[in-house]
Amino acid sequence: MDLVCLEDFEQQAESKLEKTARDYYKSGAGDQFTLRLNREAFKRLRLRPRCLRDVSQLDISCKIFGQQLKWPLGIAPTAMQKMAHPDGEIGNARAAGKAGSIFILSTLSTTSLEDLSAAAPDTYKWFQLYIYKDRSLTEKIVRRAEKANFKALVLTVDAPIFGHRRADVRNKFSLPSHLSLANFQGEQANGVVTDGGSGINEYVASQFDPSITWKDINWLKQLTQLPIVLKGILTAEDAVLAREFGCAGVIVSNHGARQIDTVPASIEALPEVVKAVGNDLVVMLDGGIMQGNDIFKALALGAKTVFIGRPAVYGLAYNGQQGVEQVLGVLRKDFEITMALTGCQKLSDIQSSLVAHESIYSKL
Ligand SMILES: Cc1cc2nc3c(=O)[nH]c(=O)nc-3n(C[C@H](O)[C@H](O)[C@H](O)COP(=O)(O)O)c2cc1C
Repeated sequence: MDLVCLEDFEQQAESKLEKTARDYYKSGAGDQFTLRLNREAFKRLRLRPRCLRDVSQLDISCKIFGQQLKWPLGIAPTAMQKMAHPDGEIGNARAAGKAGSIFILSTLSTTSLEDLSAAAPDTYKWFQLYIYKDRSLTEKIVRRAEKANFKALVLTVDAPIFGHRRADVRNKFSLPSHLSLANFQGEQANGVVTDGGSGINEYVASQFDPSITWKDINWLKQLTQLPIVLKGILTAEDAVLAREFGCAGVIVSNHGARQIDTVPASIEALPEVVKAVGNDLVVMLDGGIMQGNDIFKALALGAKTVFIGRPAVYGLAYNGQQGVEQVLGVLRKDFEITMALTGCQKLSDIQSSLVAHESIYSKL
């Protein structure tokens, strides 16, 4: 059977993954209202296509932090990718490299950042950071990321503790014993094992520093010259603080709805962030992207690029690196169709007037 949309890959992945891993990848927090909303909110936006605009040649390339990219879709950091397929993070990163887009490696990866970098030298890579209680451990990992050619630090700010993901608690989720958190070989922070509940929540509670504040952005800035991107911003207020504290960009994100339920969908939060800081910071988005239309809508509302989390993991689970390449291929084609059929030749043609909220039509 041909896989023609991201739901097809999701279905295939679900049939291949063992229950504990499947639930870990799929779950959102609480009763998963925002998990559904992340996708549904895109459907509440309507496209207003323009006609007769010569779309025989499309250019969907873009530049982020001076780096030329083939298109505005990258791969978000997701933890423990070898649970999906032995290709793990390397498969994902190589697929992103082939597609000419950004790959963000999670701190909680099952491939070390050095191994990843050596295996995907041509991929444009960012490193996602959590701040550990042990600051020397955090500092060490920043130094290693710099040395291994990662080009930005993505500090995740929506996870001082982890959200309540019911399935992980029920399943007593822990990392299979043949895998480890590869960035911490030889350190205490190496393994996710359960003490009776969700092993990942227990790990985070014991290792991550929940006392971090905006002042710690200053601490991080004096450690590194790399651009700092804050991931997990959902309000104009925090976006303004990100600018004040000298960050280079923000990713509007609710962590794939895994942290706290009933927050807005990422696409709902995007306009207030763009309005507040869009002229000064690179505003990006992840959460719920499943189609070319969704990428288009996020760009129309002011995002400079977007990321996928679960869809890449599902591609990996389906068929390793090749599966991720297929997912990216399907999405890219779909995005090009949206561009052509809305009358856009290049990304700067994607204006906010090409998207309207459904409420405008329901008033008619
Ligand atoms: C299984 C899984 C693991 C994740 N691990 C991380 C992580 O280690 N660090 C992080 O900043 N975000 C993590 N995220 C959040 C993603 O980076 C991203 O925000 C989210 O998946 C985007 O939504 P989507 O899955 O609908 O595309 C994870 C998400 C999932 C689904």
